[in-house]
Amino acid sequence: MKRLLLLYRSIIGKKVIAAVTGAVMMGFLILHVAGNLKAFLPDAAPGVPDIDVYASFLRTMGEPLLPYTTLLWSVRIVLIASLLLHVTCVLQLARRNQRARPVRYREVRHVESTAPARWMLYSGSLLLAFLVIHLLQFTTGTIDAARFVPSGVYGNLYRAFHEWGYVAMYVGATVLLGLHLYHGAWSLFQSLGLDNPDRNRGLRQLAMVVALGLSLSFASVPVAFSLGALGPPPAESPKLALR
Ligand code: HEM
Repeated sequence: MKRLLLLYRSIIGKKVIAAVTGAVMMGFLILHVAGNLKAFLPDAAPGVPDIDVYASFLRTMGEPLLPYTTLLWSVRIVLIASLLLHVTCVLQLARRNQRARPVRYREVRHVESTAPARWMLYSGSLLLAFLVIHLLQFTTGTIDAARFVPSGVYGNLYRAFHEWGYVAMYVGATVLLGLHLYHGAWSLFQSLGLDNPDRNRGLRQLAMVVALGLSLSFASVPVAFSLGALGPPPAESPKLALR
């Protein structure tokens, strides 16, 4: 425990914590986008979109051994802890950097840093704001409570993405996410000591593939609904069968 506290207090420890928690959240995003892409699959049964079956699975996984949503809440707790640790460590590192350089350079030269690196704090803050709206919209259903259907994910997406404002917001968020992840993945390799002049080109390419792949896959769902490539939800109500 004492060692963990010492690690948390050191600069290198904070970098490692930010990297590991970032990796946990990136893992979640990969699973999340894989789930989202199920919107493109044919119905699992007549009147039952495949993505709704998946949403219901997320809530019922672990049953009957574990009560309803227990496993889902376990994952949520890990994610919330990761997000809090990530934000805290990143802010503390940024403050230390600022304190270590109280006199600002007269001419700021960004030699090694890339545009996404400078925008990390801004993109991270905007992504946090997006996340709050996103959870109120698709998880709690607070934003459109009258029409929101728990586990009726396909219909919820269809209704949201027929409003151009939401499409613009989600596509904007995925662009930000791409920038954030590109630099985040690259920093992760450095913090974990994986960078090396022989490997750096390959690692940067890997960071680019992950960031671009996630960004484009996330954006594909709102774009497909808004262009009509994904049609309306089936008329038959799956609500009775799915929890
Ligand atoms: C266009 C992109 C996105 C779409 C269409 C989308 C869609 C959804 C939907 C429909 C849900 C509810 C799923 C359910 O009820 O089972 C959800 C949950 C969630 N999304 Fe997204 N999402 C997108 C991007 C993102 C991004 C970029 C993040 C993170 C920065 C994110 C984080 C989350 C989280 C944390 C949850 C809650 C999961 C839970 O605890 O149940 N999403 N998303």
